[in-house]
Amino acid sequence: MHAGQTPDWWQRADLCYQQQHLHFAGQKVADLAWQFGTPSFVYSAQRVSENIARVKNALLTVGQQQNHRLFYAMKANRFAPLLTFLKQTGLCGIDACSPAEVEHALGCGFTPRDISFTATSLSQQDFDQLARYDGLLFNADSLHAIGEWGKRRPGAEIGIRINPAAGVSRASNQLLQYAGPTTTKFGIFREQFPEALALAASLDLTVRRIHFHTGCGYLTDQLAEWQAVVMQCLWFVEQLPTVQRINIGGGLGVPHIASDQPLNLQKWAEIIKKHFTARDLAVDVEPGDYLVKDAGLLLLGVTYLEKKQQTYFLGVDAGFNIAPEPAYYNLPFQPVPLIFSTAQNRTPFHVVGHINEALDVWAEQSMLPDMTGQKYLALINAGAYSSSMASNHCMRGAFKEFLLLP
Ligand SMILES: Cc1ncc(COP(=O)(O)O)c(C=O)c1O
Repeated sequence: MHAGQTPDWWQRADLCYQQQHLHFAGQKVADLAWQFGTPSFVYSAQRVSENIARVKNALLTVGQQQNHRLFYAMKANRFAPLLTFLKQTGLCGIDACSPAEVEHALGCGFTPRDISFTATSLSQQDFDQLARYDGLLFNADSLHAIGEWGKRRPGAEIGIRINPAAGVSRASNQLLQYAGPTTTKFGIFREQFPEALALAASLDLTVRRIHFHTGCGYLTDQLAEWQAVVMQCLWFVEQLPTVQRINIGGGLGVPHIASDQPLNLQKWAEIIKKHFTARDLAVDVEPGDYLVKDAGLLLLGVTYLEKKQQTYFLGVDAGFNIAPEPAYYNLPFQPVPLIFSTAQNRTPFHVVGHINEALDVWAEQSMLPDMTGQKYLALINAGAYSSSMASNHCMRGAFKEFLLLP
């Protein structure tokens, strides 16, 4: 948060101050930090369930005949207890993007039929391994993938990932876009679509699904751009009489800063209804961020406070390498103190980690109360693309993870 913005925009029923102490998923966060130690990720299974329910309810308004499906993109967070919880509750299937992810999902109880697979740049060994799973929902993102799958699984039904040459992302952040004016490695473009269909037919593959995923983090303000992507996709649909389902990918975002407007799922669903349900097409959706990001906190230990020139620094015991989104994608993290009174004055702090890299900055000019004596700090929105992208840079890759069950 920056000076001048609503300080506590992120508070909600299960993440808020009660008697000046931060509470999350019914627990006092200072107690969690004390018991678990830092750095630790804590995830709320209840919040994940609620996020899933919101997306499912929106899909229900789109039309119930078509059996729309939800696949959780496990690249966002593959913590095994979380995946097992999702399987046991039957809330969703899995979107996997590597053979190892498929194996991990199977290890957590999912079956190949629960898994939609969309990946890029697969090797011969990757195809060999994937082709062993009967029922895996395979989406090919290149002529190469169609050819290799057809050799191993002639007669199969497949999906084709297309590239509509248009993308969408939070605040039009190009780092988060998978398609657009620049040619990317993802999906099959219009120019090659007839060749892709001919290749599939020659291998006796039936194309049942069109898949697209063109970027991440879109909110209500980007829905017009997302609709433009959807409309590009319709050209591909029109070429393909055998298509039954559209996989609209992930990309649904959550607010990162006070000025971000949450995604209006009703408006999102109306776009789906207008363009896909009206053509009697079923919809698959594979969100990662939207389901788990705001269900996770990263608990950090405060290491020091120091003013250098005119800047106040607050050091913490973990760096960008265990939650790289701010560094990689310029996505802001919101630091939240564990003890806070609204009466306190706030000071702009740079919150920095313990890695010897200039980009190891969690937040700049974050308006925090007097942090003297505070042992801990929480980063919200740490449930996605944090632990799953962590590295051991500087040999400081250690962290713990905990799932809080309802
Ligand atoms: C093919 C595919 N599907 C789904 C997702 C999930 O995206 P998100 O977490 O933004 O919803 C991704 C993420 O990059 C992806 O590449």
